[in-house]
Amino acid sequence: MGLFICKNCGYGSGSWLGRCPNCNEWNSLSEQSSLEKDSKKNEAVKKFELTSLSKIKSSFKEKKASGLFEFDRVLGNGVTSGEVILLTGEPGVGKSTLLLQALQSFKTIYISGEEAAEQVKHRAQRLKINLANFLFSEDLQVEGIIAGIESLEEKPEIVALDSIQTIYSKNLDSPSGSVAQLKETTKQLIIFAKKNKIPLIIVGHITKEGEIAGPKTLEHMVDCVLTFEGEKISNFRILRAIKNRFGTTDEIGIFEMQENGLIEVDNPLVFLHQEKELTPGKAVVGIPEGKRSLYYEIQTLAVPTMLPVPRRVVKGVDYNKILLLLAVIRKQLGISTDTYDIYVNVVGGINIKSTACDLGIVASLISSIKNIPLPSSSVFIGEVGLLGEIRKIYFEDKIIKEAKRLKFSKIYSSLNIPNIKTLRSVIII
Ligand code: TYD
Ligand code: MG
Repeated sequence: MGLFICKNCGYGSGSWLGRCPNCNEWNSLSEQSSLEKDSKKNEAVKKFELTSLSKIKSSFKEKKASGLFEFDRVLGNGVTSGEVILLTGEPGVGKSTLLLQALQSFKTIYISGEEAAEQVKHRAQRLKINLANFLFSEDLQVEGIIAGIESLEEKPEIVALDSIQTIYSKNLDSPSGSVAQLKETTKQLIIFAKKNKIPLIIVGHITKEGEIAGPKTLEHMVDCVLTFEGEKISNFRILRAIKNRFGTTDEIGIFEMQENGLIEVDNPLVFLHQEKELTPGKAVVGIPEGKRSLYYEIQTLAVPTMLPVPRRVVKGVDYNKILLLLAVIRKQLGISTDTYDIYVNVVGGINIKSTACDLGIVASLISSIKNIPLPSSSVFIGEVGLLGEIRKIYFEDKIIKEAKRLKFSKIYSSLNIPNIKTLRSVIII
């Protein structure tokens, strides 16, 4: 019996099916050729070789800084030789702009299936990019790209592919952007990068829903996964490493998208609005982000509701975290939360992953439900446990020290707020 493989997602089935049960694509299953099926069956037993790791020369120590400090910071001081980086983000967030700005100090080959040469040049000129270092191509066949670069006398210092959804391999029938093509082209590119010790940056678009069958399937193959996030309406952009074989994953890079490109941001208070008015539901939180701390504004709107199942709309923090913290407020403080629709948002389109924001979220929820503003110039730092206890977070001392320097006059943390009962008595006067 043959094996039938889906051209779109790689799903395997013992019999032919009209529709793939995995990705729901019609007519995508075809029988794998017998050559592919059993190609390893007749292989002789291979000689097993061992090498002492201590004798292997490592070229990975070498990092090349791009000079764009926020970009280098996230990668861990720059790009490593032969490293394959996947840069993901929603369309329009600024990935191509970031590439042009970050790569201008390297001898770069820039391959674009997204924009024509003229468009790229037009943008680069607007960004005042040094064009002397860029070679450009619109060729998208991966075999051609690899053979072409390998035959160059002068090798590039880095190759950028914008985007992987437009690159294809001639060995597959499936269309560009299908999972099978994404995997095959990435596999070939990784082998190329390691063999030639040339770093690669591959752009992958993701949609708001996170599109499971897209670039996410490549994350385990590459060395580093960068995400570039931010709202199109706000100008701030955050670069994060969610996987990094050659550095840490807890540094973030902050940029502001302006008329003439991305500007690096160093101010930890950049996400806070300066208006002095006190509003119920508004809380400032201090969060550790790598070696620095950043301050974000949480906003909650609690609106009385008649709905039997009240609405919870959450942006910027985990949805389940809000359900959990509401349960803690209800149980530990006896405040009824079921008669309110609750909307929670982090200002600036920011996503907070750290638990350090819990205390601020609880304060913001109570403040909105009770319709009482939080004390002026206050900041909240701490994790909230299920029993209502406030837990010390990683780097608490550092964030408090920084908050003092930034002249927050009331700093709430595990040091002065042991549990949320104390929090209520402190914030609601
Ligand atoms: P782009 O880099 O094309 O995004 P991506 O490659 O992620 O799809 O940038 C998209 C947006 O950024 C575009 O809509 C306009 C804006 N932008 C600026 O505001 N200022 C600039 O200098 C540039 C180049 C772009
Ligand atoms: Mg682009």
